[in-house]
Amino acid sequence: MRSTLNVLRKKLAAGRKISMLTCYDAGFAKVMEDAEVDCILVGDTLGMLVQGRDSTLPVLLEDIAYHVSCVARGTRRPFLLADMPFGTYQESPQQALRNAVTLMQAGAQMVKIEGGAELAPTIELLTRSGIPVCGHIGLLPSHVHALGGYRVQGKEEAEARRIVADARAVEAAGAAMMVIEAVPDPVARQVCEAVQLITIGIGASVACSGQVLVLHDMLGLTATPAKFVKNYMVGAPAGGDAVLQAFRRYAQEVETGAFPGVEHVYGMTAGNIGTPYGNQSGS
Ligand code: KIV
Repeated sequence: MRSTLNVLRKKLAAGRKISMLTCYDAGFAKVMEDAEVDCILVGDTLGMLVQGRDSTLPVLLEDIAYHVSCVARGTRRPFLLADMPFGTYQESPQQALRNAVTLMQAGAQMVKIEGGAELAPTIELLTRSGIPVCGHIGLLPSHVHALGGYRVQGKEEAEARRIVADARAVEAAGAAMMVIEAVPDPVARQVCEAVQLITIGIGASVACSGQVLVLHDMLGLTATPAKFVKNYMVGAPAGGDAVLQAFRRYAQEVETGAFPGVEHVYGMTAGNIGTPYGNQSGS
């Protein structure tokens, strides 16, 4: 039986944190399930990692729906989230609802959207319609051109205040989970203290309720990994199940709070995070 938000909340209440990995196909998804990874995110990073694009922007709704259906068919237990791609939810809450329905019908249990307070009406409509929402604040990869690169967010006081306010607004609108990406550790901690929902960090803080990494990053397949990435193939036992062991170690280290270590989180002076999420050379 597939995991639920209640199962995840109970795990947190028992003092164990939540592990999430991105995944795009049935084969890897099954290995993640066997490794007891809690959640799988079909992220729009599939643009870079599967399609060879140089950003997440060209990813289409049908691309995500197809990969959600692959991951859903390959697994029975992990909680399954789908990213809503760029341009599929910003126009109006009604546009978001129409497109979120497509992803839920493909097998997702929750949709993830990038943005803050401006998305409150959209989050309200989705949650009222029975669609659980995961927010995504801090570094928004789909805003890469507006941001001028993949940069740590929240180093200035005003920016940090806006991130905390966004987190509060996203929660107040009804989101049940939130990804916090590339935010200095002290700011991520402020966010975690300001909200009750499930917080999932990536380059944020060990104070989050859980962590997410991109599949190709944590398997050491990314040429220029960001600081927040740990390569779990390093030290994995040689043999046929090295990938399973890498996923298992990740899930265990997240659960106990051993990952992220201090070397994986940002201080207040951090700058560009590099060219993360794999291939940057496509179109
Ligand atoms: O699309 C994705 O893979 C993501 C992660 C970076 C969290 O949103």
